Amino acid sequence: MSRKIIIDTDPGQDDAVAILLALASPELEVLALTAVAGNVPLPLTQKNTRQIVELSGLKTPVYAGCDAPLKRKLVTAEYVHGKTGLDGIPLPDPTYPLQPQHAVDYIIDTLRAHAPGTITLCPLGPLTNIATAFQRAPDIIPKVAEIVLMGGGCFEGGNVTPAAEFNIYVDPEAADIVFKSGVPLVVMPLDVTHKALTSRAWVEGMRALGTPVGTAVASWTDFFERFDTAKYGSDGAPLHDPCVIAYLLEPSLFTGRHINVEIETGSELTLGMTVADWWRVSGREPNAMFMGGVDRDGFYRLLTERLGSL
Ligand code: BDR
Ligand code: CA
Repeated sequence: MSRKIIIDTDPGQDDAVAILLALASPELEVLALTAVAGNVPLPLTQKNTRQIVELSGLKTPVYAGCDAPLKRKLVTAEYVHGKTGLDGIPLPDPTYPLQPQHAVDYIIDTLRAHAPGTITLCPLGPLTNIATAFQRAPDIIPKVAEIVLMGGGCFEGGNVTPAAEFNIYVDPEAADIVFKSGVPLVVMPLDVTHKALTSRAWVEGMRALGTPVGTAVASWTDFFERFDTAKYGSDGAPLHDPCVIAYLLEPSLFTGRHINVEIETGSELTLGMTVADWWRVSGREPNAMFMGGVDRDGFYRLLTERLGSL
């Protein structure tokens, strides 16, 4: 039986690869994609999401959600993802429609309509949609099977400030609600994703597929890579968000610890930091499976196998 998931996303080239990986995988039933403001404003993230679905050739519904964080002004990342959020190969304007319902209402209605423990949420951007749904309808919280998300950092520090990773930094109050919700959490922080770097051979392998998906993935990773190469001096680009989907497909690719993670919402200096109690010194109850390692070869093998099938 396939696992039912909702992907909450702010594409983003790495979000796009994650979405395609999920859509290509029969073990997963993607009920919907819900867009949130993040890498770029909402009008672009919902449009990009529809372009990605159109590219896949499938008919997964797309909903638009919150256009701003709970309490703060939106911070975007065009400097990483380009002005469209999905710079790389130009894609045609989507003909695929946006669903009329608000993403938050969709998440609430869907969780209420399903048996407890049957839906997994996969946030790939700021946690605004998920936290808004939890605030508005606390009855859905115990119904969520698990949340597997990309966000945060421990030993790796942050990528927006020395302390904070982008998805958590953009909406720390939303992250705080999710991390305190009691829902079982699996977290893919920068400690993992900075080890999931593309290689030249992998990107060229994608291009050599000669399919629309292969060509798009190669052009997106090429675009994304120029930023990370300049910033970190690394050889490839970190495919952050696909780690979430890869975990659902092959959890043994990842290693981590079940620990307490709290979100900093007060300090100006460390706003959005995931205070991860890796050494279990706080005495606070564990609330998250916080990952630290990935089998990079296995991860790229899985991506090649699945993306090649689209
Ligand atoms: C996260 O921020 C975004 O730029 C990426 O899509 C990823 O979700 C990495 O910090
Ligand atoms: Ca993202």
